[in-house]
Amino acid sequence: MSVTSERLDTTPATSVGGLVAPRPAAIAKPAGPLPRALRGVLSLEDFEAAGRRHLPRCLFGFVSGGVESNASVRANREGFADWSLRPRMLVDASARSQAATLFGRHYAAPFGIAPMGATVLSCRQGDLVLARAAAAANIPFILSGASLIPLERIIEANPATWFQAYIPSDREHIGRLIERLARAGYETLVVTADVQVSGNRENNVRNGFSLPLRPTPRLAWDGISHPRWLIGTALKTLVSDGMPHFQNLDATRGLPILSPDAMRDYGRRDALCWDDLAWIRDRWHGRLLVKGVLAAEDANMGRRVGLDGVIVSNHGGRQLDGAIASIRALPEVVAEAGEMTVVLDSGVRRGTDVLKALALGAKGVFLGRPFLYAAAVGGETGVRHAISLLSEEIDRDLALLGCPDLAELGPDFLVRVPGR
Ligand code: FNR
Repeated sequence: MSVTSERLDTTPATSVGGLVAPRPAAIAKPAGPLPRALRGVLSLEDFEAAGRRHLPRCLFGFVSGGVESNASVRANREGFADWSLRPRMLVDASARSQAATLFGRHYAAPFGIAPMGATVLSCRQGDLVLARAAAAANIPFILSGASLIPLERIIEANPATWFQAYIPSDREHIGRLIERLARAGYETLVVTADVQVSGNRENNVRNGFSLPLRPTPRLAWDGISHPRWLIGTALKTLVSDGMPHFQNLDATRGLPILSPDAMRDYGRRDALCWDDLAWIRDRWHGRLLVKGVLAAEDANMGRRVGLDGVIVSNHGGRQLDGAIASIRALPEVVAEAGEMTVVLDSGVRRGTDVLKALALGAKGVFLGRPFLYAAAVGGETGVRHAISLLSEEIDRDLALLGCPDLAELGPDFLVRVPGR
């Protein structure tokens, strides 16, 4: 798939009373009328309600949930409210653009799709659906190491895909995975650092959900009471694609999601440390990022081992409850990042959130849950709809902010809310 701006909105300039209004620079909506399930979805936040209706309770809980008291999930949203925007007036914003460059590659927007495991449970061929939608819109997509479709098939569908690895501190394992990635043509490797052990997902226990999946009468009832998901996702997947396996945790295909050993096989991640990252740096010739950085000291360590970038993230509030919100950690990480590229995820939902993160020094942002709900509810069309909604918000916000050029965004456009 060539990565060009051909999918950008190309509606011709319109003439109003002799004045020519330039075309908007947002990513185009998917072609044709929207399916009924998407018609009332006007923002990324609306996708959550649509996802709640569509998915079995246990799966919606798995996607939406945080850990323990959900303190970090809440903080991720609250953190964006620490800042107000300070718009400038009478700036010619008619030629605005939200195109962004990350690691030398041009993208149509400064946001992308964060890595999410086991997406095929929510949407048939979820990893492929997300990869294709990202390719069509020309935005970044990160494939999760806990995905259920072989990484070789994903990069065929979207050659710009980044890969996120879950790795134990076992160099033989890491070496084999790196070789597989290089052979498949991946150029960007993201190592997730904040899953030393699994987060305490009490909501999964309450809903009877686990990975690997353990079928119970309660799960069966949950599925039967959501017939669109049961037929369109679960049964179609089993009949057409077979039982999903963890495909990308290692150099070879892993175990099926029903196997009690599916995750256990991969060793301990709580021993992974900066020495391992330095070891990976010596062997991985592509771009290397660490995901889960929230402290200046870790940005400093990342710089010293030669990372190309860091993802400021608290895993969407799904790991350490009470961990600082990404947007609040961003300034100190940026200050210590040097030449590294800093991007952010966790809690981004609005165009204004994207602009606040960029104004604080992020080069781009990633979103998780909204794109997975969009895939669940509307497949590739749903994800394309979600992408275009966020892109339209950014385009409108750039005009209203009086900042036609993303490169001009900076702290001058922000005011700290008193008392926060
Ligand atoms: C995730 N996330 C995640 N991160 C990662 O590095 N590897 C993974 O396999 C997963 N899996 C995963 C599954 C699901 C269902 C969710 C919701 C999230 C975390 C993800 O990459 C990202 O950090 C957060 O989702 C960002 O927060 P928001 O945008 O969901 O608020």
